[in-house]
Parts: sequence; structure tokens; C-alpha cells
Amino acid sequence: MIRSERGVWCIETERTGYYIARRGDLAEQLHYGRKIRPDAGPLREKLASSYCTDAIYDETWDAGVSLHHVGLELSPVEKGDFRRPALEITMPDGSRVSDWKLREEKVLPASPEADGLPQAYGGGECLALCFENEWGVRVEALYTPYDECDVIVRRYRILNGSGAPITIRRAMSYQLDLPRSGFLLTTLTGAWAREFEPKTQPLAAGAAAFGSTTGASSHYCNPLFLLSEKNADENAGEVYAFNLIYSGSHQEWVETDSFGRTRVEAGIQPEGFAWTLAPGEVFDTPEAVLTFSGEGKNGASRSMHRFVRAHVSPRRWSSVERPVLVNNWEATYFGFTEEKLLQLAHTAAGLGAELFVLDDGWFGRRTSDLRGLGDFDVNLDKLPSGLDGLAAGIEREGLRFGLWVEPEMVNEDSALYEAHPDWAVQPPKGQPCRSRHQLVLDLCRTQVQDYLIEQLDNVLSSAPITYVKWDMNRHHTDRFSSALEEQGRFAHAWMLGFYRVLGEVTRRHPDILFEGCASGGNRFDLGVLCFFPQIWLSDDTDAWERARIQSGASLGYPQSTMGCHVSAVPNHQTLRVTPLESRFDVAVFGAFGYEMDLTAVTPGTAACIAAQIAWFKEHRVLFQQGQMYRLVSPFETDECAWMVVSEDRTQAAVLEMISLVHPNSAQPPLRLAGLDPDRTYEIGVRPQFLETERFGSMVRQAFPELGQVPELFPCEQGGMTASGSLLMYAGIRRRQRFGGFGIAPDVRIMPDFSARIYLLKALPE
Ligand code: GLA
Repeated sequence: MIRSERGVWCIETERTGYYIARRGDLAEQLHYGRKIRPDAGPLREKLASSYCTDAIYDETWDAGVSLHHVGLELSPVEKGDFRRPALEITMPDGSRVSDWKLREEKVLPASPEADGLPQAYGGGECLALCFENEWGVRVEALYTPYDECDVIVRRYRILNGSGAPITIRRAMSYQLDLPRSGFLLTTLTGAWAREFEPKTQPLAAGAAAFGSTTGASSHYCNPLFLLSEKNADENAGEVYAFNLIYSGSHQEWVETDSFGRTRVEAGIQPEGFAWTLAPGEVFDTPEAVLTFSGEGKNGASRSMHRFVRAHVSPRRWSSVERPVLVNNWEATYFGFTEEKLLQLAHTAAGLGAELFVLDDGWFGRRTSDLRGLGDFDVNLDKLPSGLDGLAAGIEREGLRFGLWVEPEMVNEDSALYEAHPDWAVQPPKGQPCRSRHQLVLDLCRTQVQDYLIEQLDNVLSSAPITYVKWDMNRHHTDRFSSALEEQGRFAHAWMLGFYRVLGEVTRRHPDILFEGCASGGNRFDLGVLCFFPQIWLSDDTDAWERARIQSGASLGYPQSTMGCHVSAVPNHQTLRVTPLESRFDVAVFGAFGYEMDLTAVTPGTAACIAAQIAWFKEHRVLFQQGQMYRLVSPFETDECAWMVVSEDRTQAAVLEMISLVHPNSAQPPLRLAGLDPDRTYEIGVRPQFLETERFGSMVRQAFPELGQVPELFPCEQGGMTASGSLLMYAGIRRRQRFGGFGIAPDVRIMPDFSARIYLLKALPE
């Protein structure tokens, strides 16, 4: 809701408020946090006389004001605010001096469309604060509240009203001046197969700058980050969370000044960026997403999750149950035949899978990652019946058919490159860097965008394809495009080209479920999620690594957005062996599937997988659409626990996982969250099995009564009832874990990396 009260603009959501007041020709930021009844008087920065060295902004209207001490919605540049301004623009005279004066304040019925950029939908009114500088350049600061998810979306729109060209050099999407310091900054950094590692650091003096320069939002540093007050934890304390609706290189900037204030900014990566606007032209920054929680990090995550589900994720898919898929990549890599794929599909169908996905290697000369990208003709050596023939075979098994593509790239060994070498991004002189033997296609060129749209359209119309995994496997380098007069535009223009292709292909194929991917989570962001409801989170499918990666990503992304698969052991990324049930228990908290050679598993494993799939289908809505809470952090302990709770709080599921066993270690009560304190819940453990070989030479002691030792044995069973209040405020005491002694029905056998899922059902009131 947007309203004006006693001269204060109030941008409010259910529990948060952002307050701004005019101060002369400035827009002063008064408060962002818990909702208040505002009053400009007590909230204003008090400045009656300058600090000795201050540069006074305008002696005529507010004697003491140095911009350096005021919270600002948009900082005038070179006017005494020595913190980093959100916008830096070279004016027609070559200077960057810019005195942004607030000229107009208006409430628009909705946020204006940002040309070529993905945007959140379903917001209401939008506050526009319109600034103008001495050249007649206008900037609109736009604010849209999303009530029920406590999110405020911000961005700037720059209009060149100066009559001469100007060049934008730094285009952040917002600046937020918090009148406090001492925050803890949590960033989500990582690498390939190690995405979303939360790293928390205290902010003392100076600026923390982070982000990506790779051409994608990147696994090195996701645009999601958090600022928490010192004692905040998962469930208590004040926490701000920030994200961008953007998939390209980005920068985040958190600056603590000498007067105990904190400036926060995020937007397009300024390194190498220059965007000249001709007179009359407009530039939109990507939308930024801000939330505040007084209920710790889980509170901020809950708001972000709701926002993504209701206002980012394509409407068509927001409450659609995602199919149980089987992907052939780790089963066959490039070495598949049509026969092998059909065998795999046959086995998968028998186990209960719903969708078969053919990964990399089906097209052109693609026998390895050395060649073929750029081409879309079917490789008939591998698939003699073509895609439609294969799809028909898959459908005969009762499965839907899905396909992998990597359209943004080209191998030099491909028909496309031979025909159009100039379509690949190359430096004007010298050699381009190769990565995975491939080059990036120049999506700054409309011709290349059109080629991709048409090729993809043809392929997707050539067979009954219901799902697409859209991959992108390298960072950008050698950024130069002969289509651009100004090379500083490259990174952002490429992104706009990418969004055009995404928009057009998804518009033409609205019933295809698209899953983004970039060597796993190298482009896991809200920009992609505006088009694709899910993204392959990581190539690392080791159960414990996934517990960590999914925990980190859950800080800002709901589980329905995360592609999560059960894969073989030893795991292909870590060479680690984890129990099959643990791999399942972790993967069900996401868009779930299997990525292993199901034709090669033992009968016991096959039976176990069939039971897993049947169980998952019964509880799929809870896992994919329930509200997720983090309970125990795998980054701080040897354990990980999460839970999901249904919207009406009558159902919940809890994951408990351990990493390395320390025999006879403490098992404190496990406190749950999100339940109805007044309801009574029935708690049961999901029926699970463990590989008997875990007992090694102890197997006879473990099963003295059995003649032939089975491949798998059932884990403990049994349930109990408890009130929501007990479960949340006292916590549940779990059964003892095996610690070298006592194999008894009441002892939980939990070797390294084992897990359990508990299911909670509210009893009728
Ligand atoms: C990337 C993806 C994998 C797989 C391969 C295929 O690494 O992340 O899941 O699709 O490409 O080449």
C-alpha cells in the first residue's frame, strides 16, 4: 500500500514500511524496517550546523545540510555525499556532476514496463519520485510494495531530456541508506558444484563490494544477500534480504560510513559498462527486491519464497506439480544409443517415473563436448528414428519426453560456426578464450537471436516435448560485438538479447516446462525464474553437499525452483558413498528426479526406488509447495534439518541428516517451526531402508537370526503424537542413535550421511 501521511510517503506491506519525506529538493529516507506510524520530525536526520569539513549542499534552505549525513533516495553526484552514488552519468559537458532535485512525486497504477527486462508481476500501485538535474536529465525512482510477502521492488528509470547524448557509467537499481551500522553481511558465494555457500562477515568501516563479472549471475556470487543485526539468528532478530531480477553480471555494494550509517546498493556490474543515451532515450535498471524481517533469517526467506512463487515464477506453473523425471546424463553421458535410452525409459516407467529427459549429445556432430553446439539437427547415428521416433517410444512407455539444449553457445567444430564464424563472440584482434571447447554466441545481434528463436521453435515443434533443460556452460570473455558501436554496452545488451530469446521461445511454447541450468547453479536467479519455474541447482548431487547447497539457496529461493536429483554412488562429483535413502530424503525438497543408470541397479535398490517414488507422489504437493524452514544448519554443525509446512499447517515433513558420525554424541531436542501451536500432530517416520553392507564384518552380530542376509534392512518405525507448541518450543527428543553398541529396535542405525524424514499430520480438531 502506498499513502502519504503528514508529509511522509509510506510504502507499506503487511509488516514492513519504507518511509520517505521531502527535504527541500531532496528525498530523505527516514526508515525502512518494521511498520510504524511515521512522523517526519523525529525521524529526520538533525543537522543544525555543519561538521567542520563538511561540504554544505545549499545554505539557502537548510543551513547545516551536508548530503554526506542524510539518508537519500538518489544521491546528487559531486555535491558533498562522499559515499558511492547509485547512478553515475557523464553529462554532455563531460563532467559527472549532477544535482538531482526532486521535482515531482506521483502514484502510478502499476510499475511501468521496463523495456526488454523481466519484471515481477501482480504488484499494485507504484510510487514514482521524479528527479531532474541541471541538464534536464530525469530519473524516476520507482517503488512497488508486494503486500502479503513483505517485499518492496525498486528500480530507477533514466530519461535523457538534455538534448545531447549522456553516458551512464554506473546504474544501480536502488540505494538504501540505513541509519545504523554494525550489520553482519551474508553473501552466497561458491564455485561449480559448490554453489550457495553462505559466508557471514561483520561490517566495520569501508565498503564491501561483491558480485559477478562473468556474464551471468554466477556461482561465484549470487545476487542474493542478507544484512542481519548482530544477534539475529534463523528465527529472531532483524534481517534484511536483497535480490535482483537480473541474470547478468551484477554488483552489490554495502558501505559503512564514519557516522554509523550503512548504504546498500545493487545493480548492473559497472566494470566495463557504458551506455550512451541519445536525447529522448530511456534506460531502465533491473528490478531489485528488498525485504525486511523482524523474525530472523527464516522470516526473510519466507517472504522471498512467497514473492518468488506468487510474483516471479511464471503464473502458468506456480501451482503445478512437477513431474518425477529421469535424466540420462549421469547414466550414459554422451555414449547413448536409442536402444539404451528406451531401456532406461522402460525401467524408469516401471519404477513410477513420469518424464524422461534426454540430455546433451542428441544433435549435430555432438559425440563429445568438443563439437556440435550451435546445430539443432538430430544426430541420426545415435537416434536413427529421430527425436519424434524416440519420443514416440518414450510415450509408449507411458512417460512424457523432455530435451536438453544449450542454445547460447557454439563449438568451432559445428555447421553453424562454419557458416557464421562472425556470430561467435571474438575479440577484434587475437584469439578468444575457449571454455569447455566452446564460444559464446553474440546475442547482441538480432540476427543471432532470430536464428535461435527459429531453431528452438522448430525443434520444440518437431516432437511431443513437454520439458526443456536449457543449459549454459561457460563464462563470457573477449566481450566485443561488431553489432555495437559502443562496446561498453556489451554485457547488458547481450542480456537483453538473451531475455528476448527466452521470452519469445516460452511465449510460443507455454505448455513446456522449462528448467534453467548453467553447469548447475551458475545462473540461478530471479531473472531466469521469470521465464523458467525451476533451475538445476548444482551438478553436485552428493546428498550431504546437496544438503548444504539447498540450505544456502533456501535463504532466498523456494524449493519448487530447485532441480534436485538422486544420483549413483560413488557420487560423480565427490566420489562419496551415501545411502540411497539419504539421497532421496534431500532431493524431495525440490523439483525431484533421478539421474543414474536405473537399468544397472540391484532388485533391492529398484524396489526401494519404486517405493520412494510412490511415497513422493503421495506427498509431492507438501514438498514442492509447502513453506520451508531451516532448523539446523549444515554450515555450523554436523547435521542438517529442514521442514516444510502446508499452507493450512495441517501437514509437515521434517528432514534430519547427519554428516560424519561421532558415536554417542549429544542429541538435543529438535525444535520445529511453522506449526499451529494449538493443534496436536501425529508424527511418523517415513519407512526407509539401509544397505546391510554398512555393517561390514559385524553383519552376523546385527542379524543373528537371519539365514540369508538381505541387501537392505528396514529402519526403525513407530510414531507419537505431540502438540505444535511442544514441537516448536520444547522440541522433540529423538531416539538414541547407534554408537557402537546396542542394535535394538529402538536404536536408530544412522551411519555417516544418513537421513530420516518425519511426516506430521494434524489430528482432527
Ligand atoms: C552441464 C549440466 C549437466 C549436463 C551437462 C551436459 O554440465 O549442468 O547437468 O547437462 O552440462 O553437457
